[in-house]
Amino acid sequence: MSKLALLGGAPVIPDEPPHYPSIGAGEMAAVQEVMESGCLSGFFGSPGPEFLGGPKVREFEAAWAERFGVKHAVSVNSNTSGLFAAMGAIGLGPGDEVIVPPWTMSATTMAPLIYGGIPVFADIEDQTFCIDPDRVREQITERTRAIMAVNLFGHPARLAELRQLCDDRGIYMIEDNAQAPLGRENGRATGTVGHIGIASLNYHKHIHTGEGGVCVTDDDDLARRLQMIRNHGENLVASEGLSDATNMVGFNFRMTELSAAVGLVQLAALERHVATREKLAETLSEGTRDLDGWTVPVVRDGCRHNYYIWLVKFDEDVVGVSRELFSKALAAEGFPHELAYVAPLYRLPLFRDRVAIGRDGWPFTLTGRTYPDGLCPITERLHEKEAVCFEPCAFDVDDTLAARMVEAIRKVHEYRADLNALAKGA
Ligand SMILES: Cc1ncc(COP(=O)(O)O)c(C=O)c1O
Repeated sequence: MSKLALLGGAPVIPDEPPHYPSIGAGEMAAVQEVMESGCLSGFFGSPGPEFLGGPKVREFEAAWAERFGVKHAVSVNSNTSGLFAAMGAIGLGPGDEVIVPPWTMSATTMAPLIYGGIPVFADIEDQTFCIDPDRVREQITERTRAIMAVNLFGHPARLAELRQLCDDRGIYMIEDNAQAPLGRENGRATGTVGHIGIASLNYHKHIHTGEGGVCVTDDDDLARRLQMIRNHGENLVASEGLSDATNMVGFNFRMTELSAAVGLVQLAALERHVATREKLAETLSEGTRDLDGWTVPVVRDGCRHNYYIWLVKFDEDVVGVSRELFSKALAAEGFPHELAYVAPLYRLPLFRDRVAIGRDGWPFTLTGRTYPDGLCPITERLHEKEAVCFEPCAFDVDDTLAARMVEAIRKVHEYRADLNALAKGA
């Protein structure tokens, strides 16, 4: 192998990998059909048949419900909207606590705040990076109303255990399934174990509609509340004869006919889109598993991992080079990656300063909870020292390129002593 690209050698991957080609002729034709129909959205925010959206939205929801074996699928315009709607649908109110992981996209932890709920952070597992049920148990109080289980990076959280915990305590489990569309835990599909599960269809996910999301539930009442929050449900409380109008302060979270049409085509190809990413991640894992100080993703027994992110734990004491320098060398070889994922979310100014809605710090004023450093040590360690992330969803990688990606990692690892010399200024 040549010397490291960082030291003047030839990079293993000279050209930036192409972007994943997620849109094809099927999606184009579906959009064309909607355009020709002239109806780009079929929703009306008032009582009547159009309250539930246009023909493509309804077809998409029916197809989604069938695909995942759930009673109701409620489309929305993003996973974030779906999370907000879920918090509303379960009747979350000011001062109620929702247990959340600190390593997830920020939206997971914003959703409770919209209703005056208080996010309470529970640390993650060191192996799967999903919320740890033992840490969740420690955080449950009489104020706890729900747990957010995030199937992070495509790996299922301990869903059955968390659902049991919720059922025992009479609280809700909401699954943020943005990153694991076809995840499985012991035969159960991720997203379908909680009372409500929410998928994301944003551009960066395994399948997408540009922006979009889908909430699923088997509960008729929750489904109706989700539909109402999605579409100005305040106008239907009387006509529906809803006895409990809690949180029927509706939004416009409606999906367009265009997005639904694209979603139908993408959904039909979901297995292929997910399997492509899984294959790439598995190639990277198999090709680098033996490297010292380089721990490839673990898949818990009975689980399917969809690899939204392929996250390696880097041990700089074992490798003998800082993560930052190793990463610089990897980047020079052309391997696209990031250090870490997001900072532990309780470090956001919003939590640090306890300022969310309005000027007086509400809803944090309803609780004594604070968000100091050290709250979730595993997340902090992964973020600060260990995580090296690659995004399989982003790139179109054939077998040749995948082999080069493995080679790039192996090369930097092999020549790490040269990096040491560089670090020491030799
Ligand atoms: C775990 C998680 N939750 C929520 C979201 C928000 O999804 P959306 O962009 O569809 O609102 C994302 C998006 O990256 C995510 O990864």
